[in-house]
Amino acid sequence: MLDFLGTLTRTHNCGELRASDAGKSVVLLGWVNRRRDHGNLIFLDLRDRFGITQIVLDKDLSATAHAKADQSRPEYVVAAVGKVRLRGKDVINPRMPTGEIEIVADELRILNDAKVPPFSPAEDAIANEEVRLKYRYLDLRRPEMQHNLEVRHKVALAVRDYLSSEGFYEIETPYMTRSTPEGARDYLVPSRVHPGEFYALPQSPQLFKQILMISGLDRYFQIARCFRDEDLRADRQPEFTQIDLEMTFPQQETIFRVVEGFLSTAFKAVGIHLPTPFPQITYDEAMRNYGIDKPDLRLPGLSDVKATFTPENLAALAIDPALPVIALRIPKVGELSRKERDDNKPLFDTRKGAKYIDDLKRLEKGFPEAATKVRELASAQPDDLLIIVAGDTAHHITASDTKTAGRLSEREIAVYSAAGNFRVELAKKYADRHGAFAVTDAIVTNEARNTGTVDGSQAFRPIWVTDFPMFEHDEATGKWMPAHHPFTSPHEEDMDRLVSDPASVRARYYDLAMNGLELGSGSIRIHQQSIQQEIFRSIGMSDEEAKSRFGFFLEALQYGTPPHGGIALGLDRVVMILAGASSLREVIAFPKTAKAIDLMVDAPTPVSEQQLRELHIRPTKA
Ligand code: AMO
Repeated sequence: MLDFLGTLTRTHNCGELRASDAGKSVVLLGWVNRRRDHGNLIFLDLRDRFGITQIVLDKDLSATAHAKADQSRPEYVVAAVGKVRLRGKDVINPRMPTGEIEIVADELRILNDAKVPPFSPAEDAIANEEVRLKYRYLDLRRPEMQHNLEVRHKVALAVRDYLSSEGFYEIETPYMTRSTPEGARDYLVPSRVHPGEFYALPQSPQLFKQILMISGLDRYFQIARCFRDEDLRADRQPEFTQIDLEMTFPQQETIFRVVEGFLSTAFKAVGIHLPTPFPQITYDEAMRNYGIDKPDLRLPGLSDVKATFTPENLAALAIDPALPVIALRIPKVGELSRKERDDNKPLFDTRKGAKYIDDLKRLEKGFPEAATKVRELASAQPDDLLIIVAGDTAHHITASDTKTAGRLSEREIAVYSAAGNFRVELAKKYADRHGAFAVTDAIVTNEARNTGTVDGSQAFRPIWVTDFPMFEHDEATGKWMPAHHPFTSPHEEDMDRLVSDPASVRARYYDLAMNGLELGSGSIRIHQQSIQQEIFRSIGMSDEEAKSRFGFFLEALQYGTPPHGGIALGLDRVVMILAGASSLREVIAFPKTAKAIDLMVDAPTPVSEQQLRELHIRPTKA
C-alpha cells in the first residue's frame, strides 16, 4: 500500500542541511538513491535536484518507519520526517556537502514505488546512449544531467539580462513561415486549408530579424529555436537553439563588443572568468596559421617552413615548390615507435593533392640541416611530434588556381586545410599527452564543485575570424556561390569586382570560434536593394526566381532600410563547452539521435490515412 503526502510540506531540500542545522525537525522529500540494510539500522540516501541526504531508520526508534524503509527500493519516492543529527567523526563524508549530518527519521512514507530501472540514476552514464534516450526521464535524474541543464538555464538567463540591459528587445518570430536559406533542407508543414501548400520551419530567423531592423526596432534578440534537416554530428541537432541578434547602424566591432559582453557574463554566471576583448584573425590568416576557419588556440599553430629547404631538397621530396610547406607540432607526445608514427598517416587527407612528407625524426636522417632549422622555426621541444606536409608534385590539383590580390588560392587552401585537419585529429589522439584539453576539463569540473570564480583564460580560447571570402567555387556546377547566406554584404571596397573577379571579394562576415568549435556566425547585411538583387543574379538566380522566393524581402528593402548587421550563436554549443560535454545531446533535455529520432516519444511516426487525406498528401512507397 502506498502512502499519501497528506499535509506534509517539504521543509528543506536534500542538498541544504549542514552541521549548524543539528537538532532541527525536518521533512525531506525525494527519490531513494541507495539503500543499505544493516539489520536494525537501514540507511536511505535521499536524492533530489539539490543533492543527497542520508536518512537513518532505527528499528528501536520507530518500527513502522523501519518497516517502510525495508520495503523501499531505489527510485521509490519517499517522505522522511525526523531530526537532523551530527554524524560520528569516523562516518563524516567529506565528499558530500551534507556529509556531516544525517536525518534520524521517526516517520517514513512511501509516496510512490518504481519498477526496477533499466539503469541506475545513482551511477555514471551507461554506454548505451539509446537506452539513456529512451528512458530520458531516468537519465535526467543523474546529477550530471541536472548540472548541465542548470548551466543551460544560467547561460540563457545571463544572456537575456545582459542584452536587455544593452537595449535589446526579445521579439519572437514565426515558426510556421517560408524557407529561409541557411544551407540545409527545410522541415515542411503541410497546410490543411491550402491544399498542396506548405509552411517551412525556419532554419534561422534571418529575414525576420532583418525586417525588424527595417521596422525601426533598432536592437533585437531572441533565444530562438531553429530547424534544419541536415546530416547530424555530435555538434549538430535537427532542432537547436540560437542566441540570435541584430542591430541597426553597427560597425563589425559594435557587434563583437555585444557578443563579448554577453558571453563573458554567461561564463561568469557559471563561475568562469573569460577575458575580453577576444582576439581577431582574418580568414586568410586563420588558414595560414591553423589550416582551419575555427582554430583551436589551445595548441600551437602551423609554421611555414618552406624557406628551410633548398630547391634540391624540395625536388628530392617531390614537394611542389609553388605551394606552402608546413610544419605542424603537437607538444609533449614523446617517443613514438615507427609503427605508431605510420598509424597516424591514414588520418591525413591526401585527396586534394596534399602530401604527408614525414615526421621530423625521419627527415633528420636525409636532410639534417633543414630539419634543424624546421625545429627552430616551429619552436619544437625534443618530445614534441613534428610533421611536415606540403603540396604533392605528382598530384594534379583539380581546383582552379584563383590567386588574386594577395588572397589564398584554392590550391594553397587545400594544403593548409589538410594540415589543419590533421592537426585537429592528432590533437584529439594525443590529448592525454599534451594535456591542453585537460586544463579545460579541470576548470569545468572545478565549476561543477562550485568552488568560486576561476580563471578561464587558458582553458577557453575564443577567436573572431573575419573577412571570409564572399563566394566559393562550386565544383559540381562550376559556379561561384555565396559562401554564406546571400544577405551578407560584400566589403564596400570589393564591390566593383563582384562580377569581374568574384574570388577576390571579401564578405563582411565573421565567425566566433572557441576551442576548435564554431560558436557563432554573422555578418553586416546588404541593405540596398540593388546590391541584393545583384548578389542574387551573381549566383545565377533569375529576377523571377528571386521575386518568387524573396519578393517580400526585396520589397521591404525598398522602404528605407538602414545599414544593419548581427550574429547568431549556438546556445547548445556554448553550453556544451561550459559543461565539458562531448555532444549536444548532453545539454539538450530531449534531443534527437544522429538519425533525427526522438527515442522517448518515438518520433517521427506514420500518421493515419485520414490525417493524410485532410492534408492532401498521398505518400509514395520508398
Ligand atoms: P549559422 O547557420 O552559421 O548562421 O548558425 C549560427 C550558429 O548556430 C549554431 N548551429 C547549430 N547548432 C546545433 N545544431 C545545428 N544543426 C546548427 N546549425 C547551426 C552554430 C552556428 O555557429 N542566420 C545566421 C546568423 C546570422 O547571420 O546572423 C545563421 O543562422 O553555433
